[in-house]
Amino acid sequence: MWQPPERIKHELPAVSWPTAEQAASARLFQPIAIGPRTCRVRTWLPAMVPWRASEDGFVTPDVIDWYRRFAEGKPGVLVVEATGIRDVPSGPLLRIGHDRFLEGLKQLTAAVREASGGETLLFIQLIDFLQIRRRPPRDKFFGRFLAITERHREALRALGGNSDERFETEEAVRTRLAALPDSELPYVLTAREIEDMERGYRDRVTDTHLPHIKELPQVLPGLFADAAERARTAGFDGVELHFAHAYTMASFLSALNTRDDGYGGKRPHRVRLPVEVIGAVRQRIANDIVVGCRYLGDDVIEGGNRVDDAAWFGVELAKAGLDFLSISKGGKFEDAKQPKVGWSSYPYTGRSGYECMPTIYSDERGPFARNVSLSAQIRAAVRAAGMQTPVVGAGGICEFAQAESVLERGEADLVASARQSLADPDWFLKIREGRGGEIRRCEFTNYCEALDQQHKQVTCKLWDREALDAPDVTIASDGKRRLIAPKWRR
Ligand SMILES: Cc1cc2nc3c(=O)[nH]c(=O)nc-3n(C[C@H](O)[C@H](O)[C@H](O)COP(=O)(O)O)c2cc1C
Ligand code: SF4
Repeated sequence: MWQPPERIKHELPAVSWPTAEQAASARLFQPIAIGPRTCRVRTWLPAMVPWRASEDGFVTPDVIDWYRRFAEGKPGVLVVEATGIRDVPSGPLLRIGHDRFLEGLKQLTAAVREASGGETLLFIQLIDFLQIRRRPPRDKFFGRFLAITERHREALRALGGNSDERFETEEAVRTRLAALPDSELPYVLTAREIEDMERGYRDRVTDTHLPHIKELPQVLPGLFADAAERARTAGFDGVELHFAHAYTMASFLSALNTRDDGYGGKRPHRVRLPVEVIGAVRQRIANDIVVGCRYLGDDVIEGGNRVDDAAWFGVELAKAGLDFLSISKGGKFEDAKQPKVGWSSYPYTGRSGYECMPTIYSDERGPFARNVSLSAQIRAAVRAAGMQTPVVGAGGICEFAQAESVLERGEADLVASARQSLADPDWFLKIREGRGGEIRRCEFTNYCEALDQQHKQVTCKLWDREALDAPDVTIASDGKRRLIAPKWRR
């Protein structure tokens, strides 16, 4: 992962945990309305993909155990990982693109309800993503993947000077290209073709010459609405539309979206599809369950959105009828590191990825509550427009006074914590019960994120080697780690 050049190692914030009485009157543990539901406390567990679904996207017993364990800590809201809305093979990513996934999802909602004693609202994050391929070996790229055109022939002829080679067969073009040194490729290939070779091909929302990309605005509202309806049927309290990071909807919102069909370019055009998706979802499920979204307060890439774009979008998305806005940051393909041959690009390896999940090795500012200035500005814009839509802030939140001051300063209405909750799923509950001293504190070195990058079952280094031989422990497929945090023995 990219790290700030300063590479200052920060200490975890000093703590002074409250007593149970102090916690009872804290802002963090006051209720808040989110659309048609009331959230009992303002603690939020944001989406985290744990790589526990089956190869064909079904809920497995490991998925249920994973969420049951988080539900035991009774967060106000628990958001189930990014879940695919299409009925297409997507490896072990959870899916909701067909009714056959309903049975497993129903079991999941029942398990969470039981484990939290009904205290936790359960949402599911709905995602659409575009095709991405692994980085090919150079010879394979020229031998098979590159689509040969007349432009390549002309460029090769020009490059060959007086050579009378005509490159009439495709084979001849491929052979010549493969033999070219890298330094000469820019004369023959487009920047995009070079990128496909060096990083692996990926679709972009601006590839409107491709029919499946051109028709995204016609297809996506229906797909999101179908998925939201299934979420309602499965018993979820709400859906979180994934408009963040490197995925389709965030790419529509991004300033890099130059589509010229009314769905790109100026801000009102970039927000058009998200607003149409919200409209379709609302029409389908009315006000029965919560509908919110996660989107970026800053793309953190050259030419991408900044917080003033995000504040403007926040107002439009709230006006479109969302019940909450959850703010994330970065996590883009554009600045991702070049993957190794045979690997796919991972959108959390560049600076924007760092800003999404900042580590303890940081700049002066450090990783803690690093991104709340974004939720603060978005919230202020939404309030100034006269709406009370709750805003969720995240990023390095791991301590009571820090979470409390985010709420006190009006930087967010709910406080989300991913990695600290992974390190200790009971941490919010321990604070509430005046037992903060028992919290296992996240070290923010991103061992969990590295597992995610390799699509390995995600665990936390602080507990995954503990009591491996205990009778009730399930072990990861590498045989070395427990899959679920140990129970909190009071
Ligand atoms: C292993 C892992 C998986 C994640 N998966 C998702 C995801 O599916 N959807 C999402 O919006 N964010 C995802 N995130 C980002 C987190 O929700 C969160 O925004 C980020 O970790 C910063 O919050 P934190 O500092 O509290 O960890 C993931 C993070 C981690 C560590
Ligand atoms: S693996 Fe590291 S960064 Fe991830 S939750 Fe555990 S301590 Fe935190």
